[in-house]
Amino acid sequence: MVAKIIDGKEVAAKVREDCRQRVEALGAFGTRPGLAVIIVGDNPASKVYVANKAKACSEVGLNSKVHAFPAETEEAEVLRLIDTLNHDPSIHGILVQLPLPPNYNVRRILETISRDKDVDGFHLYNVGALAVGSSIFPPCTPYGVSKILEHEHIEVAGQNVVVVGASNIVGKPMALMLMQKDATVCICHAKTRDLAQFTILADILVVAAGRPNLILPQMVKTGAAVIDVGINRLPNGDLVGDVDFDGVSQKASHITPVPGGVGPMTVTMLIENTVQAAERFVGIKG
Ligand code: GUN
Repeated sequence: MVAKIIDGKEVAAKVREDCRQRVEALGAFGTRPGLAVIIVGDNPASKVYVANKAKACSEVGLNSKVHAFPAETEEAEVLRLIDTLNHDPSIHGILVQLPLPPNYNVRRILETISRDKDVDGFHLYNVGALAVGSSIFPPCTPYGVSKILEHEHIEVAGQNVVVVGASNIVGKPMALMLMQKDATVCICHAKTRDLAQFTILADILVVAAGRPNLILPQMVKTGAAVIDVGINRLPNGDLVGDVDFDGVSQKASHITPVPGGVGPMTVTMLIENTVQAAERFVGIKG
């Protein structure tokens, strides 16, 4: 079997077009969705992600403002800015780029963001809402994976899903979202013994472990849909996922490439959540 290679840019373009129309409709309420992005320090990957987020926002007609702080900035200064943004009616979404400097209390920062502006879905209220199946702002990367599965008409209900990686940003919310859609979900992580005994059972395999070539063809069931969330920079400069793409694409039914698979969806779902926050602000969405 040779897998269909899923074009994340194509799925993203569809979602962005829908967002563009919703941004236009918000114009009738005198509102343009606004996103504030806070970045502390100079992590090179974070800087690239933040620049991509700002660019994508402007392409869809959102206002975005990046607040960049040096690594030595006191946490209190960032907390004060979040408080100001919470009360700013032109800002509908607030995102604090992670990781933060090691001396910061990440939970305190995330819990200070108004839950109505928490477009990353990282506030405990939104994490809880996701856990009970009433999500308002689903975390962007797993939300993007869900959209990809939907777009490709990949059935989730009753399927065996294995999620490799148990992070708060991807693995855990991904598992909750798919469980909500009636999948049978198994989460594997760095301490899982004999990973292959689990992955081989997966009808849908979502990999977010951050380890190149972690998933080899013999670990994948013939006909499985394989979603690669990994982004790894090799010493030679190449960008690769966590899956042996060439090998696994000879066995899977669907596979996402890296780059060009899940990546474009993460920033797109941030736009979707920000538009949704603005719609809730003007009262056209609950
Ligand atoms: N760092 C890596 N991924 C993310 C994300 O989705 N949101 C934020 N805020 N920081 C991140």
